Amino acid sequence: MKKVKSIEHIGVFTSGGDAPGMNAAIRAVVRTAHYHGLQVSGIMEGYNGLVTDDVKALGTRDVSNIIQRGGTILRSARSKEFMTLEGRLAAKKTLDKHGIDALVAIGGDGTFRGAEVFIAEHGVPIVGITGTIDNDMGGTDTTIGFDTATNTAMELVDRIRDTASSHDRLFFVEVMGRSSGAIAMHCGVAAGAEFVMIPERKQGIVELIAVLERAEKSKSSVIVIVAEGDEEGGAYEVARKVKERYAHYETRVSVLGHVQRGGNPTVADRILASRSGVTAVEALIAGHAGEMVGVVNGEMVLTSFSMAVAAGKVTDNKDLDRILTILST
Ligand code: F6P
Repeated sequence: MKKVKSIEHIGVFTSGGDAPGMNAAIRAVVRTAHYHGLQVSGIMEGYNGLVTDDVKALGTRDVSNIIQRGGTILRSARSKEFMTLEGRLAAKKTLDKHGIDALVAIGGDGTFRGAEVFIAEHGVPIVGITGTIDNDMGGTDTTIGFDTATNTAMELVDRIRDTASSHDRLFFVEVMGRSSGAIAMHCGVAAGAEFVMIPERKQGIVELIAVLERAEKSKSSVIVIVAEGDEEGGAYEVARKVKERYAHYETRVSVLGHVQRGGNPTVADRILASRSGVTAVEALIAGHAGEMVGVVNGEMVLTSFSMAVAAGKVTDNKDLDRILTILST
């Protein structure tokens, strides 16, 4: 934690893959800043808007009617320009031009790594808010967007179950999450899947085969959730490996894709986003920088960017994995 000079003008942006609840977080940042008498500007398309000077003033009414909307009104990007020294120099010039003296960055690990570099080079105070469906950050029990994405995935798997059990089929359903198995594991338990394949666990296919052999004797349909980052490959690859061994299985593959990123945020995501926005602005006012706002055991906490990007959600997944094994018999 660093102490910084008092701030008057906050910039807010969303970066990386969008996540449901980002708009609710923007709204909370803008309204909290105004509540405390600060000016706020929205920076368009993540770090790109800083590099290209795409900045607009945001009043409290500019964020009306967005708490319920998926996506992000500020748009989002993974900026290549900001990864260069020149790009970051241009970004600093934009901040100076507008008199923006602190930033709230809403995004995931890439966003916070970029923020760390920017702080080190230019000393701009930045506080982060999680905005990623992947739930792959340390320093928080959950990230904004994860609950909505997992609910969407669960609802879709419920629908797949209807058709799977009508035809005695084995379905492989691929969900997002990059290198995290959080969406897969939570969706798997919530939708009553028979097996979940996640990158955090190594013997996926061996265990899967054992589960399929047991299920063949007792179940009419089987659903296997495959995290997109699993070592065995995506759902098509896992299905191919299983089919190689058991040609008689009637298999189908469904890759859920970007539907998981859209849609109206759930209550949990709207509340987390609202709490995070208030906490982030008040943290900047109190002199914090280089930290991410998270929620741990119901309490809002600040964690350094370096800790937040280093830790994962492996323990949580292990516990759910055990639960799924017991409940899917
Ligand atoms: O990080 C969020 C995420 O949706 C991941 O789950 C996924 O791997 C990736 O982004 C997809 O990125 P893109 O939208 O660029 O295809």
